[in-house]
Amino acid sequence: MLDVLTQKVHDESRQGEAYAPFINDPAQYQKKFYIESYGCQMNFSDSEIVASILYNTGFGATRNAEEADLVLLNTCSIREKAEQTVRKRLTEFRKIKSAKPGLLVGVLGCMAERIKSKLLEEEQLVDIVVGPDAYRSLPGLIEEAEGGQKAVNVLLSREETYADISPVRLNSNGVSGFVSIMRGCNNMCTFCVVPFTRGRERSRNAFSIIKECRDLFDRGYKEVTLLGQNVDSYYFTPEATDNNAGNGAVTFASLLEMVAQISPLLRVRFSTSHPKDITDDVLYVIKKYENICKYIHLPVQSGSTRILQMMNRTYTREWYMAKIDRIREIIPGCGISSDIIAGFCTETEEDHRDTLSLMEYSGYDLSYMFFYSERPGTLAQRRYKDDIPETVKKRRLQEIVDLQNRLSRQSNEKDLGKIFEVLIEGNSKKSDQDWMGRTSQNKVIVFSKKSAGCNKGDYVKVKVTDCTKATLLGELL
Ligand code: 5AD
Ligand code: SF4
Repeated sequence: MLDVLTQKVHDESRQGEAYAPFINDPAQYQKKFYIESYGCQMNFSDSEIVASILYNTGFGATRNAEEADLVLLNTCSIREKAEQTVRKRLTEFRKIKSAKPGLLVGVLGCMAERIKSKLLEEEQLVDIVVGPDAYRSLPGLIEEAEGGQKAVNVLLSREETYADISPVRLNSNGVSGFVSIMRGCNNMCTFCVVPFTRGRERSRNAFSIIKECRDLFDRGYKEVTLLGQNVDSYYFTPEATDNNAGNGAVTFASLLEMVAQISPLLRVRFSTSHPKDITDDVLYVIKKYENICKYIHLPVQSGSTRILQMMNRTYTREWYMAKIDRIREIIPGCGISSDIIAGFCTETEEDHRDTLSLMEYSGYDLSYMFFYSERPGTLAQRRYKDDIPETVKKRRLQEIVDLQNRLSRQSNEKDLGKIFEVLIEGNSKKSDQDWMGRTSQNKVIVFSKKSAGCNKGDYVKVKVTDCTKATLLGELL
């Protein structure tokens, strides 16, 4: 069994997660695939679509790369480090391949899109390269590769949303599931490679989204997270052929409401929101439904208006602050988190201090923090010089991390003595005597199981008795 890598990119501990669902018995399949995922939640969700396509092609999943006939890496290009990790991983697969010559190795996702044929030339062991919009062609590509040819499809699409493919839930806790509602991004933040690797923004058919969420609920899931690069710009117009046509266009606010109405026992989350697109309509829908979680991930990226402009974020520092005020006004007690980049091109100490003061103003419960990593082909790479020395970037990042640690601790201390409704996700990492769950505000809370007969997937009331900067500790009521 290969080690599961842990690297602090996007979704903390999940980087390099290898997965296979327990429900499918690999023995019933003649061929086996192994898939490992990197990057954002969207990529993890894509791996579930890939798994579904592969099952229909006669492949069963395995968690053990050594017994696989097909090894896939679903890759991320967002920072250089993410790409380096994957390259290193590929060299490790070289060993497995030399022991098993028939083994096929495929690279999926953003790196496949970004460096296409370079992967085939440089990484001699790669047989298949497939971009994020071309997963339907995998069966044909595998066949080509089995015939000894290199197989590539990195075409981007304006339509593909995989709406009709039921994802196979891989590594799910059976309580919370991810549902992709749109693909691509049109924002063109200058630092970001996503618009180039995942293509134009398109929204998935609202009715297929509702169906997928309802199916999850019927199968016992208690929480869905609606995923997209910029969920607030979701916009779907039903076609004349759709059964439900005539209801008019579906915005993110109306989609959220439709999902919330599936059942009061189904929690709804969403990610990611762009500050420029989150409307009052959305905030009022969040307020109206108890089961829509009071938590918004609202990346600021920088606290300096000058840097925000260079990043093409299309808002100013003051505009962002007003958005924070609006959220706090409409949804008191809402959890808010952010993404922050340290050391973007030309950033001065004053710009950096603006970021620190804006973090303080926003009082984030949590942030994902990065130093700027120049990506080939992005607007920033073409327009600006990556002129902040790495030592300065890292020092600024450390100051940002230290401040966030203090803010997270303060935010947790404010919860001491309060009672929250918690959805139990499973055993705590440290002890099977303790449950781990989340509050509506997305805070992780750990509490003793006691003798009470509750189960994974139950809603319980928990009183906060203690905390660290990352976790609340509580007592079951
Ligand atoms: N360098 C550093 N961080 C980046 N992000 C996106 N592109 C870059 C880059 N080139 C961060 C942003 C984004 C998150 C997903 O990754 O903060 O919101
Ligand atoms: Fe990248 Fe900006 Fe789109 Fe997010 S919103 S994926 S940061 S371009």
